[in-house]
Amino acid sequence: MTKTKIDSEITDLTGVDFFVQVGEKTRMDSQPNRALVSKWDFSRRIRKFWSKAVPMTFEDKPMGYEEKRKFRYDLQDYMQEVFRFDAFVGKRVLEIGSGAGIDSAEFIRGGAETVSMDFSLLAVRSTKLLLKEGGLDGDVVLADARHLPLRDSQFDLVYSFGVIHHVPDVAGVLCEVGRVLRRNGLFTGMVYNRDSLLYAYSIMYLHGIRKGLIAQGLSEIDVVSRFSERLTGNQYTRAYTRDEIAELLGRFFGHVLVDTYYNVIDMVGRRKVKFRIDTRQSDLGWHLVFKATKI
Ligand SMILES: C[S@@+](CC[C@H](N)C(=O)[O-])C[C@H]1O[C@@H](n2cnc3c(N)ncnc32)[C@H](O)[C@@H]1O
Repeated sequence: MTKTKIDSEITDLTGVDFFVQVGEKTRMDSQPNRALVSKWDFSRRIRKFWSKAVPMTFEDKPMGYEEKRKFRYDLQDYMQEVFRFDAFVGKRVLEIGSGAGIDSAEFIRGGAETVSMDFSLLAVRSTKLLLKEGGLDGDVVLADARHLPLRDSQFDLVYSFGVIHHVPDVAGVLCEVGRVLRRNGLFTGMVYNRDSLLYAYSIMYLHGIRKGLIAQGLSEIDVVSRFSERLTGNQYTRAYTRDEIAELLGRFFGHVLVDTYYNVIDMVGRRKVKFRIDTRQSDLGWHLVFKATKI
């Protein structure tokens, strides 16, 4: 496959890390007010969490690429059919928040030309290693999704699975996605469903109510941030209803579609237990998959 180098030439990790930090520090110095400093500190804490906890990297229990791939698509068994990783032959794909890199690898296997981007050093390292292990060729960039070091209108697809619900300044990310997508390009991915059984039972009931966290004054967003991820210390998660995510995406893109998948709940001592339910009657799954087009 012929590879177009990304315009910024920022493929060296040290260089990109510098870009991220300077971007944030400059903005803070120019307006040193309390609100901005605390926003900057919050961003740093968010990034720090993702620098030690990236799903499916299996730091504690090393696994090979094929094992990770099987684990992911057996567990989240709707993904291959819904995202059609093999439908982008020769197309330019950007993955925002590539984490362990398993989906980026899938796009490359399917014939796409990819740029995988994440602001966590652990994530970009994991993605790089995974692609190497799979003998796959793709660019990997360390950068913040709110400030993409990428030229306008160059991608056919921007994909972001389980990421934008962890970004408080989600509008900043959506602006950037719109900027780098070509006209008629597709933005797709997943956010957590606030109208799901996992949210209501596993997070709000088991943690928020039964453990008394809501009674102690924690907000709903504090509770979901604390318990949406496997590892402790997550700083920010906002789950969306179907209408909320459709309305948000509709401000930036056209032809927005949202569907619900992944019927699972977390039980005490066991996570992601699948449940059977007539999906024609309900949309109680934990994942809202969105598709939106740049018009
Ligand atoms: C829940 S993980 C999902 C990873 C991967 N997409 C997956 O499905 O396994 C969230 C990922 O988003 C990345 N992330 C969060 N906020 C980001 C931001 N503002 N810019 C870039 N990456 C971000 C984190 O570093 C982490 O790798």
